[in-house]
Amino acid sequence: MHRIVLLGPPGAGKGTQAKRLAKELGIPHLSTGELLRAAASAGTALGREADGYMRQGRLVPDALVLGILRERLAAADAHRGFILDGYPRNVAQAQSLAEITPVEQVLYFEIPESVLVDRLSQRRNCPTCGTVYNLVTQPPRQSGRCDRDGTPLIQRTDDSEEAVRTRLAVYREATVPLLDLYRTQGLVRTVPAGGSVEEVDARVRAALH
Ligand code: AP5
Repeated sequence: MHRIVLLGPPGAGKGTQAKRLAKELGIPHLSTGELLRAAASAGTALGREADGYMRQGRLVPDALVLGILRERLAAADAHRGFILDGYPRNVAQAQSLAEITPVEQVLYFEIPESVLVDRLSQRRNCPTCGTVYNLVTQPPRQSGRCDRDGTPLIQRTDDSEEAVRTRLAVYREATVPLLDLYRTQGLVRTVPAGGSVEEVDARVRAALH
């Protein structure tokens, strides 16, 4: 069974690769960022609370995220395995996860910061189906509209320059120590995340065991 965690800085391509891999392996892609954004646009109490943190690029409090993740992991499709994207993000979250389920493999997306800033400033999202575009590397066929459903594309509020700066700082402070912990447990395979989507895809497959 594949129980995979994707770790890496914002904009490294975790979501892009997770969607492809989930399709190939027939297991769900569980993104806490997507779950939180869905809660925020539905206007639930949890979503409204999370939204304030997300806009600033800060981590949503552990207890809120754990609740939403626990519920998602309990769904039937996650019993066959999963690709976790965006969780855990700090050592405490890894401990909470270990109490729910073991993790077999951690894929670390390694990439220089200069590339991330470019990728994030050029990212556009479809608010209807969640498809992720990039104005330079993966542009939509019709400018500003989703290829699948024609919805006008939006820019994530946390892709502003200021929020990206905060997200990178949070990554260095909270997530890098988690990477070190997983390394000591022998779970980490490094995936160089520069290059085209197809090149990274091939490296992800080669890294899986
Ligand atoms: P989340 O949604 O998880 O965001 P993130 O980790 O910052 O990651 P991103 O979605 O920005 O990037 P990605 O690596 O998925 O890159 P993508 O594939 O889109 O979290 C958002 C917020 O939610 C957090 O800041 C926090 O507030 C909250 N949150 C979530 N989980 C939490 C948790 N566990 N605890 C607390 N708070 C939590 O690609 C980026 C761009 O590059 C796209 O335009 C894409 O098209 C393009 N691209 C991708 N791959 C390539 C390539 N190989 N070549 C060229 N372009 C590429």
